[in-house]
Amino acid sequence: MATDGLPSVWLDPPPAIETDVLESDAHYDVAVVGAGLTGLATALLLARAGRRVAVLEARWVGAVTTGHSTAKVTLLQGTRLSTIVANHTEHVAAAYVEGNRAAQAWLMAYATEHRVQLEHRDAYTYAGTQSGASAVRREFDIARRLGLPVEMTDAVELPYPSYAALRLPDQLQINPMDVLAALARDLRQAGGVLIDSARVTEVAHNESCELITPAGSVTVDTVVLATGIPFLDRGLYFAKVTAQRSYVLAFRGATQVPRGMYISADAPTRSLRTAVHDGEELLLVGGNGHPVGRHPMNPSELVADLTDWAQRWFDVKERTHVWSAQDYAAHGGVPFVGKLPRGGGQVYLATGYSKWGMTNSVAAAMRLSGEILGDAPSWARTLGTRVSKPASAIRYFRANAAMGLAAAQGWLDAELHPLKEEDRTPAEGTGVVGAERGEPVAISTVDGRTCAVSAICTHLGGVVRFNDLEKSWDCPLHGSRFAADGTLLEGPATSDLKQRSV
Ligand SMILES: Cc1cc2nc3c(=O)[nH]c(=O)nc-3n(C[C@H](O)[C@H](O)[C@H](O)COP(=O)(O)OP(=O)(O)OC[C@H]3O[C@@H](n4cnc5c(N)ncnc54)[C@H](O)[C@@H]3O)c2cc1C
Ligand code: FES
Repeated sequence: MATDGLPSVWLDPPPAIETDVLESDAHYDVAVVGAGLTGLATALLLARAGRRVAVLEARWVGAVTTGHSTAKVTLLQGTRLSTIVANHTEHVAAAYVEGNRAAQAWLMAYATEHRVQLEHRDAYTYAGTQSGASAVRREFDIARRLGLPVEMTDAVELPYPSYAALRLPDQLQINPMDVLAALARDLRQAGGVLIDSARVTEVAHNESCELITPAGSVTVDTVVLATGIPFLDRGLYFAKVTAQRSYVLAFRGATQVPRGMYISADAPTRSLRTAVHDGEELLLVGGNGHPVGRHPMNPSELVADLTDWAQRWFDVKERTHVWSAQDYAAHGGVPFVGKLPRGGGQVYLATGYSKWGMTNSVAAAMRLSGEILGDAPSWARTLGTRVSKPASAIRYFRANAAMGLAAAQGWLDAELHPLKEEDRTPAEGTGVVGAERGEPVAISTVDGRTCAVSAICTHLGGVVRFNDLEKSWDCPLHGSRFAADGTLLEGPATSDLKQRSV
């Protein structure tokens, strides 16, 4: 399997995963679209229950977020419970904890049974600033009321100042690709089919659903969109979540490696854990997240900033890996899982894990398979019928106003920048957007190849921005990303950027 983009520590090298060939016109009970943690866990639960399942993956297993996660499997998730209570109720937060607890227990049992290595670690949420301390205390109070055995602690192992810290003992850290490899193997043994390089571009409803890919089509009774964000726009989920990209670096030779898994409650986010790679323990440092394509600094500057921070506080000797990934943040803090509106009752989706998908993906798999098989757990019903407070609507409008501004800005910037002669061959590793005959055009030079493509995102018309770290074109509206030659990488779009000649 060839990987593209910046390989994470888990993809260096990628595990060997066997796949099947798409049999055009075949019929299955269920098609699961997407082979990340959500898709493979859902497919396995359904295959074990006797359903004939096919997983259709646009790229390869783990290609997008799961293979680039920091993969802490914890019930202490920064200040997530405070966000949920602010937008919903404590009853909803309790159901969220129950679902995540069930998912964590499932993943632990699964990994143990399949000899996937798990490391037990304490999880911490800490305040990196004086003003963040009240957020940590609020999270402590809510977590306690919801039955999590958290404690306030001074005993943090961090070399820099922290103002309050909350610990939840005995959580887990994993290698997510090892988990995906085991799930893929297990799925095929249970009779499921796993097809990669098969991007679903359309779902047509007749008596059954027809899933169309460039390599052929299949028909199914039920479809599960486990695609990070749904690529079908019914339900407008692209407006209910924000695509958040962030950066993860691995270092060798850190002077003081914390044993716990840490995340800051305040900005800029800093996330820490260790990972064993080639028998050597590395320190992983994550952070500097932002809505996709919407930060005044370039991604390479954000990585340089994170590297300086790690050098300052951990005196790291060598950076071994740099990568970046995105996840979708639900404005009210609770993922969207269930039937897609106007999907004829046959199409299900899961999105909005807000960077806590190691447990939430598995919880979604339990919910989706439960709904399809007719035995959904009671916490799933509470989450499925939740009501939002006005605070949630305010967050929704704010997020969409920011998105509208980004949309207008992109078009304005392009119009104000007619393409000049020197823009037609940008320097190696750079890209430029400018107007050509009234239309935004994106030109880049990557690995010696200059490509000109339309700068208009094929999803809903955002103007893409160049990502100088990953040499990609990123859409600031809903997070679709495209390679330098216009090939679609991820996000809600279903087709490549159009080729242009300049
Ligand atoms: C930097 C970072 C760090 C994180 N750290 C943590 C952490 O420490 N703990 C934690 O709990 N969570 C963490 N998360 C979140 C977690 O990794 C994700 O929520 C989870 O991996 C999402 O899994 P998924 O299967 O839903 O999505 P993905 O892994 O993205 O899988 C979706 C798949 O669908 C495929 N696809 C998309 N469209 C189509 C289509 N049209 N046809 C066919 N296939 C398609 C994609 O190619 C992809 O392979 C982190 C996220 C990020 C970005
Ligand atoms: S991702 Fe929606 S317009 Fe680009």
